[in-house]
Amino acid sequence: MIGTSYQTDTLIVGGGVIGCAIAYELAKAGVQVTVLEKDTLGSQSTRAGAGMLGAQVEMTKPDPMFDLSIQSRALFPKLREELLELSGIDMELHTSGIFRIAVDEADRAALLDRQSWQTEAGQRAVWFEDEELRGELGDILSPTYGALYLPDDHQVRNPQLLLALAASSKRLGARFLEHSAMVCFLQDNGAIVGVKTVDSEIRADRVILAAGAWSGLIANQLGLELPVFPVKGQSFLLDSYSPPTPFTIYTHGCYILPKRNGQVYVGATEETRSGFDRRPNLRSLATLSSQAVQLLPSLGDLPFSTPLAGLRPGSLDGLPFLGSVPGIAGLYVATGHFRNGVLLSAITGRLIAELLTGKTPSVDLEPFSLSRLQHS
Ligand code: GLY
Repeated sequence: MIGTSYQTDTLIVGGGVIGCAIAYELAKAGVQVTVLEKDTLGSQSTRAGAGMLGAQVEMTKPDPMFDLSIQSRALFPKLREELLELSGIDMELHTSGIFRIAVDEADRAALLDRQSWQTEAGQRAVWFEDEELRGELGDILSPTYGALYLPDDHQVRNPQLLLALAASSKRLGARFLEHSAMVCFLQDNGAIVGVKTVDSEIRADRVILAAGAWSGLIANQLGLELPVFPVKGQSFLLDSYSPPTPFTIYTHGCYILPKRNGQVYVGATEETRSGFDRRPNLRSLATLSSQAVQLLPSLGDLPFSTPLAGLRPGSLDGLPFLGSVPGIAGLYVATGHFRNGVLLSAITGRLIAELLTGKTPSVDLEPFSLSRLQHS
C-alpha cells in the first residue's frame, strides 16, 4: 500500500558520489531535487574507492575520456572551497601527485609514450629513472624500470567529499531519502514520471538514473539495454600517524595512497566474476598486501585497519553514460564511471545540471551517449 506521495522537479536514483554531485549542481542552479538511495549515502563504491583524481594515471590514450577527466580534475580546487564554505566539511584535497612505476620494459615503453602524448596535450608528466626514484621515495624494495611522475594527479578523501556534497546540497534545499529503494518506474504514455518505492510514490518531471553498478538492472525494467555491470574492487586501510611517503604510488595491480588523516589506503583488485558480492575475501587481500609490502616494505609494520570492497560500475568500452535516453522521455542516465567515479563526479554534476537547465553542455556528450551503442 502506498503511504506517501511526493512531487519533485528532478529525482535522482542513487546517492553515491555521482548522484550527490548532480544533486549539488542542480540545487545550486535552483532546481528542486530529491535523491533516492536504497542504503545510506555513499555506502557502496564511493566508500570503498581510493579517492584518486587520476586524470593522467588512469588514462592510456588521448581520447574524449582523457579530456573529460582533465576537465573534471581541474574543477576540484574550486569545488573544495565552495563545499567547505557551505558545509564546513573539507574533502581533504591532497596535491602531492602520483608516481606511476614501470614494472617491466614493455610497461616502461608504454609510460614513456604516455609521457609524450600527455605532454603534447599540455599536461605535466616527468620521467624518473630508478635511482632518482629511490632518492625521492626512499624504501622501494624491488628494482623498477623507472616511473612517470604526474604532479597534477591528486586525491581526496572520498567519504569526506560525499559528506560535503550531500550536506551542501541539503543546505541548498535538496532532499535525501535513504534506505528507500525504488521498486519500479512510474510511466505515463511511455514517458517516465517518477518512481514507486515500497511505501511511496515519487512523481518527478525527470528521473536521473545514477545507481552505479545497479543501473543496468534497473534500466532492464524498461526493456532498456544499459550495459553497466559490477566490477569488484577490494582494498584495505592501514593505520599510521605518519605515512611512509606523501606521494601516491601506483603500479600494475596495486596502488598506495597516504591519506591526510594518517591512514594509508592500499588498492585494488579488479574482479568481474563476483556478481554483486561485496564481501572482501582473504585471497584477494593477501595478494594485494604482498604486492604493497614488496613495493614499500615499511607498510608491513603498520596496523591493519579496515578491509573494503565495492562494485565499480563497469561499461563495455570503459566510458560512462551521460545524458538523455533516446526514446524514453523524462529519463536521463549518469552511470558507468567504472574506475573514475570520484574523479568524474565534478564534471558529471556540472554537465547534467547544464543539460537539465537548458544550457549547452560545456563538453560534447556524444561520445558518452547511450546512442553510441547503436554505432558500435
Ligand atoms: N580508481 C582506481 C580504482 O578503481 O581502482
